[in-house]
Amino acid sequence: MEERLMNVDLTGKNVLVTGASRGIGRAIALRMAAAGARVAVHGFSNLERATAVAAAAGNGAHAFAADLADRRAPGILFDEVVSRFGRVDVLVNNAGISLEMPISMPDDKWELAWEKTMAVNVRAVEILTRRAVRHFGKIGGGRLIHIASRAAFRGDTPDYVAYAASKGAVVALSKTIARGLGKQNIMSFVIAPGWVRTDMAAEFIERHGEEQVTGTLALPRLTEPDDIAPMVVLLASGMADHATGTSIDINAGSYVR
Ligand SMILES: NC(=O)c1ccc[n+]([C@@H]2O[C@H](COP(=O)([O-])OP(=O)(O)OC[C@H]3O[C@@H](n4cnc5c(N)ncnc54)[C@H](OP(=O)(O)O)[C@@H]3O)[C@@H](O)[C@H]2O)c1
Repeated sequence: MEERLMNVDLTGKNVLVTGASRGIGRAIALRMAAAGARVAVHGFSNLERATAVAAAAGNGAHAFAADLADRRAPGILFDEVVSRFGRVDVLVNNAGISLEMPISMPDDKWELAWEKTMAVNVRAVEILTRRAVRHFGKIGGGRLIHIASRAAFRGDTPDYVAYAASKGAVVALSKTIARGLGKQNIMSFVIAPGWVRTDMAAEFIERHGEEQVTGTLALPRLTEPDDIAPMVVLLASGMADHATGTSIDINAGSYVR
């Protein structure tokens, strides 16, 4: 296991990270475990990959599978984690999809892509968040961390209008929870990444070249998943509770608000 990050100690905390089988979620799961948390590693299409992340995390981590596009799956997932771990102290809504949807697309394909984007990026977040808030009410509080996107604030290219809209919805959801439930010790935060080197970004980079991305950055290299994860650990720790409701940009200076 890695050395603990700063003096952030998550010993005794249980953390559910969705979409932790690869990419940003994987880095978050590993960092959480390194800080002492027990991690529920959620994956979808490849449980073996999620199981491997749980094994690498150690500390009692366990893999869970769920298709978050399915209306019933997020609630079942949350209940399964509570049933296995006893409690969940932190929910990281990280799983997400980004579908290319040119405005010229045929209506039926457009509608399907829009619905799928909203199902995974918004509805699953809403269901998991509501479950978590009710659970936090019973255990004396908890923390929600949503991985949104720079696109929520800056907008995206027209081919990704559904993606940008879905992330905007998550930001509004997080702010609303934060404003209303802080006195119940329930905090909610957003991380808004720019390009991060994961499978999600790979296709764009392959098609257009990495320089197309790095040329827009203030920093000399593309953001890696592990440039995101430490901030998520800090937010989970309670040391940043007075920042509840905030959205933290991690985009290598590509979009400075
Ligand atoms: N990469 C970027 O440039 C970037 C930029 C801004 C924001 N973000 C956001 O950061 C988050 C993580 O992105 P990433 O780049 O790490 O993505 P990624 O590498 O594409 O990984 C996506 C994760 O989400 C899971 N997932 C996909 N479809 C799912 C479904 N239907 N049900 C349940 N889980 C599903 C995948 O599980 P399986 O592998 O098991 O199928 C995987 O663990 C997303 O919310 C994304 O929008 C990413």
